[in-house]
Amino acid sequence: MNIPHIPVLLEEVTRAFSAVSEGVIVDCTLGYGGHSEAILEANPRITLVGCDKDAQAVAFAQKRLARFGERVRILHAPFSTVISHIDPLHVRGILADIGVSSLQLDRPERGFGFESDVLDMRMDTTMPLTAYEVVNTYTQAQLEEILREYGELPQWRVLAERICKAREIGPITSAKVLAEIVGRGRSQGRKVSPATLVFQAIRIEVNDELGELGKLLRSIETASLHDCVVGIISFHSLEDRIVKQTFKLWQKECICNPFVPRCECGGNHSLGKILTKKPIEPSPQEVQRNPRSRSSKLRLFRIEQKRVHE
Ligand SMILES: C[S@@+](CC[C@H](N)C(=O)[O-])C[C@H]1O[C@@H](n2cnc3c(N)ncnc32)[C@H](O)[C@@H]1O
Repeated sequence: MNIPHIPVLLEEVTRAFSAVSEGVIVDCTLGYGGHSEAILEANPRITLVGCDKDAQAVAFAQKRLARFGERVRILHAPFSTVISHIDPLHVRGILADIGVSSLQLDRPERGFGFESDVLDMRMDTTMPLTAYEVVNTYTQAQLEEILREYGELPQWRVLAERICKAREIGPITSAKVLAEIVGRGRSQGRKVSPATLVFQAIRIEVNDELGELGKLLRSIETASLHDCVVGIISFHSLEDRIVKQTFKLWQKECICNPFVPRCECGGNHSLGKILTKKPIEPSPQEVQRNPRSRSSKLRLFRIEQKRVHE
């Protein structure tokens, strides 16, 4: 089987779930099944529910994991809904390796890479919003906001203006042209080109990536889970910040407004423990083998009991 994606932090992920002897592990971002396969092999008594919004990934993973038979159930769905498909009582592990897969990046017809002749960037190709709509129909103010918030680009205003000027002549129809308009070259002193961050921003918008992450974390928080390890791998600071802050909130016993003089909430609201004070990052050897792993960060949390909800 020609596998189009190398799973990041594979050993670290497998180790994180190694104590799970039975029950269900949920892989929210099945992709090409690399993490799932390793988990199923290392934990022979568990079953796995895998989910992805990309139909190509789902079809690939179905074939790759077929040898595990009834131990695997695969869903073509956004991960914000996956927990609602499973009985939370049996869930002992949840993994999300959020971001784009190598296959999505490398297939020119998907429109994620600079060389692509289309402007698409949808992980789920049945959804209506494409990069083409964002680039050609969003107002300048909307583009500015996306580039500032999701690309964290210092030159958000100039670049949004440049896109709007370019499309006055006619619609921007390819990723290749968009990359030329915003600049592929690295500016002095910067690690990445403006095009990299513009593409990141548009991709986040098209796939509602931060909204999905927030909803996934909320669904985990509100499900009746206990004794469950949650592992989230993120690839940029916006996502990592959300995960870090959420885990901190989950760990807190007291959820009172910080301005109240004394605790009024009962002080027993902790969902469990943060297992990684600092995120786990790939070794230099892994980065050398797989340069796409370089910005990955894994954070782990153990849910011990259900927080009491108001
Ligand atoms: C980095 S890849 C995962 C690779 C996988 N861990 C493996 O070993 O092959 C990320 C996958 O998550 C999927 N994905 C991203 N956001 C998603 C979401 N909100 N819901 C479902 N799948 C999502 C993408 O389609 C992609 O296939």
